[in-house]
Amino acid sequence: MTDTASKTPAANGQGQAMWGGRFSAKPAELMQAINVSIGFDKRLWAQDLAGSRAHARMLITQGVIASSDGEEILEGLAKIEDELATGTFPFRDEYEDIHMNIEARLRELIGPTAGRLHTARSRNDQVAVDFRLWVRDAADRSAAQLVELQKALLAQAETYADALMPGFTHLQPAQPVTFGHHLMAYVEMFGRDASRFRDARARMNECPLGAAALAGSPFPIDRHQTAATLGFDRPTANSLDSVSSRDFALEALSAASITATHLSRLAEEIVLWTTPMFGFIKLTDAFTTGSSIMPQKKNPDAAELIRAKVGRILGSLTTLTVVMKGLPLAYSKDMQEDKVPTFEAFDALELSLLAMAGMIADLTPNTEKMAAAAGAGFSTATDLADWLVRELNMPFRDAHHVTGSAVKAAETQGLDLSDLSLAQFQAIEPRITDGVYDVLTPAASAASRMSYGGTAPAQVRAQIARWKEALA
Ligand code: ARG
Repeated sequence: MTDTASKTPAANGQGQAMWGGRFSAKPAELMQAINVSIGFDKRLWAQDLAGSRAHARMLITQGVIASSDGEEILEGLAKIEDELATGTFPFRDEYEDIHMNIEARLRELIGPTAGRLHTARSRNDQVAVDFRLWVRDAADRSAAQLVELQKALLAQAETYADALMPGFTHLQPAQPVTFGHHLMAYVEMFGRDASRFRDARARMNECPLGAAALAGSPFPIDRHQTAATLGFDRPTANSLDSVSSRDFALEALSAASITATHLSRLAEEIVLWTTPMFGFIKLTDAFTTGSSIMPQKKNPDAAELIRAKVGRILGSLTTLTVVMKGLPLAYSKDMQEDKVPTFEAFDALELSLLAMAGMIADLTPNTEKMAAAAGAGFSTATDLADWLVRELNMPFRDAHHVTGSAVKAAETQGLDLSDLSLAQFQAIEPRITDGVYDVLTPAASAASRMSYGGTAPAQVRAQIARWKEALA
């Protein structure tokens, strides 16, 4: 039910004024209740006005309506825009949706001339263009917010380009990496996410207006003009497809879902890193909440909520996919169900992107704790194996075996690899020299990984520089 439902007599049937010529009875109250969409599609008002203006101007240029009528319509639409912008527009359930609410208001303001605006147009192409404009804006905003998030990550990555931390596989200590390197992994992911939104935008940027109900219009309309006015690259090329397709929204929602998946991974890491057991990072009071019973608690609620939002966002993609599947061409009212999931998904995504950027800027790593953890768990074992390959020309499989014995020896004595004496190393492999100690520190390990895209601070800095230029 919509906000205004309780205030209006649900069965007064005024919306029928728009289409009720052949009807003799009012719709049932329940019919109105299930049909009404103004409660949610009011969010399309700016897009609906833009579409109507473009359409009215085109009708004037093409001589389909008299310019005096067209000007009256445009003035009326300007008044309506004022009302909508200032919150004084009278939304009414009985006019069903945003399109008929605006048209009804136009009629109140300028009289019967309002009825000429709908020449060569149907609500089917009207809603298609409104929704496309809305999704296009949402894709643009998401891409821009992703860039802001990338910038927040870049700033931290630059400060901590050589701060050591454990790199994990299976969430077990694997090899030392740097905090900057870890953050830059997300810069890559969010960069691909932003480019998915840009790709989706490029594909959706065709204008369905002028497809009318489904078959096109007998009036001499200029669809290229309306497309250009509304910032589209071109008009859509098939009128049936124009009013039937919502794959532009599905594509934006799948980009949103993938982005939300990435956000949830970063959110999960923030949750882990802020537990005292990890203690890798701290969030300030600005991005934590307390517990009503445990005074010591500082909970990373924002991260947890971001971790969860993917449920709604992916749920929206599923919802709209199921709505669209099996629909015969052309428009069916099922498609009115496209808006709520899409609005909800982008509301959740935008909030998540903004909150994540805020949290990233807010966090401070505990570099000592991370560096200490970077050396734990025999994280330089691979470096020992690589040293045996390089210095003793051992096949890697043999080196792996020798290193395993060294790890076992250290572990049984409660030592780190670098705490083993040379004699202990030589008891395992007599050709080992004290040069081996050079590769056993986490710092040496990280610095040695100079392969392109590796964790060596020099490599991390090179990637930071590349991204800074790309995002400038
Ligand atoms: N409110 C409708 C929607 O969102 C607008 C299109 C209605 N078209 C129609 N033929 N009833 O899809």
